[in-house]
Amino acid sequence: MPSSATHRHQIPLACRKAACQKKPVSVTSAPAPVLPRAPEDNELLPEDYFRRLARAEIFPDEAPLEIDLGSGDGSFLLSMAEKHPERRFLGVERLLGRVRKLCRRSHQHGLPNLKVLRLESLYTVEWLLPRQSIARIHLLFPDPWPKAKHHKRRLVQEPFLRAVQAALLPGGELLFRTDHAEYFEWALEQVEAFEGLKLVDWLPEEEFYAETDFQRQWAEVGRSVHSLRAVTAS
Ligand SMILES: C[S@@+](CC[C@H](N)C(=O)[O-])C[C@H]1O[C@@H](n2cnc3c(N)ncnc32)[C@H](O)[C@@H]1O
Repeated sequence: MPSSATHRHQIPLACRKAACQKKPVSVTSAPAPVLPRAPEDNELLPEDYFRRLARAEIFPDEAPLEIDLGSGDGSFLLSMAEKHPERRFLGVERLLGRVRKLCRRSHQHGLPNLKVLRLESLYTVEWLLPRQSIARIHLLFPDPWPKAKHHKRRLVQEPFLRAVQAALLPGGELLFRTDHAEYFEWALEQVEAFEGLKLVDWLPEEEFYAETDFQRQWAEVGRSVHSLRAVTAS
């Protein structure tokens, strides 16, 4: 696990203070989520950023949990959470302004099944998410890092896929979308070479899958979208 010194700067001071003040969440109780009383209550503030979370610390029930990595302005999550009140959604986003905006919008929409975590995606999947607990992980229009010297920064490669496989339930899914053809080919190769996930067809037409903000922007300028879906062995 990386040293605390490396990651302290990623955790906002306000979060650390608030996390210290928060009461521990009971792992034994399983009530349905209640509507947060204030927009900031939609933010998930782990008590300890260096200990793996229990499933109940994210949402205290057993409903299917989906994670959106790099949730941006949150359009995708808002639509999904509205359409599926029976599911739980967690957005992971590093930018404070976007996290606050999504907390606010989630509160305005009255969505008790949507929370946001301000943290780095790979760290979250590798070190914070509970093992074998997540139904779906969405990675939609991530930074493509187009220059060859920056390819090593791309999320979709072996360490990420290993962490994804460990976090997903048996039969759980990774859903990846990009407008960047070359990153898509790269991602396909990485998943094909990784034995823990199996490529399957994209979702059936009739299944609701919300558009993202970036997807809408790319559609306006006529760029095509490439989609990849992979499942863990059930
Ligand atoms: C290109 S935008 C896409 C946003 C959204 N998924 C969409 O399709 O509209 C990428 C988002 O991921 C966030 N991001 C980039 N790298 C990240 C990382 N390593 N951890 C967490 N968030 C990250 C950025 O701040 C940005 O909001």
